[in-house]
Amino acid sequence: MSQPTTQRRLILERRPQGIATHEDVVLREQPLGDLADGQIMVRNHFFSIDPAIRDWMSERPSYLPPIRIGDPVRSTVIGEVVESRSPSFRPGQIAVGVGGWEEYSVADAGYFSPVELQPGDEEHYYLSIYGAVGLTPYFGLLEVGKPKPGETVLVSAAAGAVGSLVGQIAKIKGCRAVGIAGSDEKCSWIVEELGFDAAINYRTDPDMVASIGRACPEGVDVYFDNVGGEILDATLLNLNKDARIVFCGAISSYNTAEPVPGPYNFWQILARSATIEGYLVSDYLDQFPQGIAQMREWVGEGRLHFKEQIIDGLESTLDAFNLLFEGRNEGKLMIRVAS
Ligand SMILES: NC(=O)c1ccc[n+]([C@@H]2O[C@H](COP(=O)([O-])OP(=O)(O)OC[C@H]3O[C@@H](n4cnc5c(N)ncnc54)[C@H](OP(=O)(O)O)[C@@H]3O)[C@@H](O)[C@H]2O)c1
Repeated sequence: MSQPTTQRRLILERRPQGIATHEDVVLREQPLGDLADGQIMVRNHFFSIDPAIRDWMSERPSYLPPIRIGDPVRSTVIGEVVESRSPSFRPGQIAVGVGGWEEYSVADAGYFSPVELQPGDEEHYYLSIYGAVGLTPYFGLLEVGKPKPGETVLVSAAAGAVGSLVGQIAKIKGCRAVGIAGSDEKCSWIVEELGFDAAINYRTDPDMVASIGRACPEGVDVYFDNVGGEILDATLLNLNKDARIVFCGAISSYNTAEPVPGPYNFWQILARSATIEGYLVSDYLDQFPQGIAQMREWVGEGRLHFKEQIIDGLESTLDAFNLLFEGRNEGKLMIRVAS
């Protein structure tokens, strides 16, 4: 089948100030260029909607360069290789890698990995439980947080894609798991269905310092931080000596145009001989196969549960993206571009 000559893509037209709008990110029809040597073309079936993409839309220095104005919004994608000028891929293979919010991604083959679907697998699992989002809690909690049986693990955005797995892995490792989330429904879900020991609704709680203290009566040994801001500050006053903070994300500040203050209680790191470590799952790329194998085993044993939210259509992408910042996503958010 010959490829179309144009495709639809979501282009970063200008840098958002606050929540990204349809003037910042615009759907355009653009020519589908030819491949250079070493490149592949992937017909995207799904792409990932992640909070970090908001950071890449800004000019802040980060672990990846800012998305250039006029380029498609960068994202992890999975789909079928439809053309290859690389010996590493042949047409028909399923590949996952760094593409964009677009129907087709053209990239150097090195940005993609082949996917061998196992019986029972769905392609989109490789953007969720068996992708970076599933491996983020795995390596972050175990390699950075280093929880010991009997310790208390506290996690923010606890009903989200990453956070919901952090608490479940903490339980598998014999810890007390406490989650912070933004609604009573989310709090009930993580306690009643995922097995967390306690949950706190930060949106309605009048005194987070006291509530964390009550939910973690023996103090916090590991804090898996997905949000930063006031929740981090309240946690700092509840840390045990030698506590570990896994600094995984700071979603509370991704849409701020001004510099953010704090943390006000940073001194507690010193006072409690605690450590805070910046963590990127991509630093563990060479260990992904072992991580996936372990996650697969726990999923197979029914010890890990995972929610996905798949929304259809490229044109739904930006509204879907903004659900993340309102707490209205239900699990790992993805767009289905084509089946
Ligand atoms: N370091 C890494 O390698 C790495 C890799 C992947 C993800 N991450 C980070 O992990 C975190 C979670 O990502 P995810 O993909 O799993 O998303 P997610 O948790 O499924 O969705 C984001 C959640 O954040 C919460 N939230 C939004 N605004 C907030 C605010 N102002 N204060 C507190 N909570 C807020 C919302 O839940 P509530 O209803 O609870 O507010 C929302 O549902 C993000 O910070 C992301 O950047 C890091």
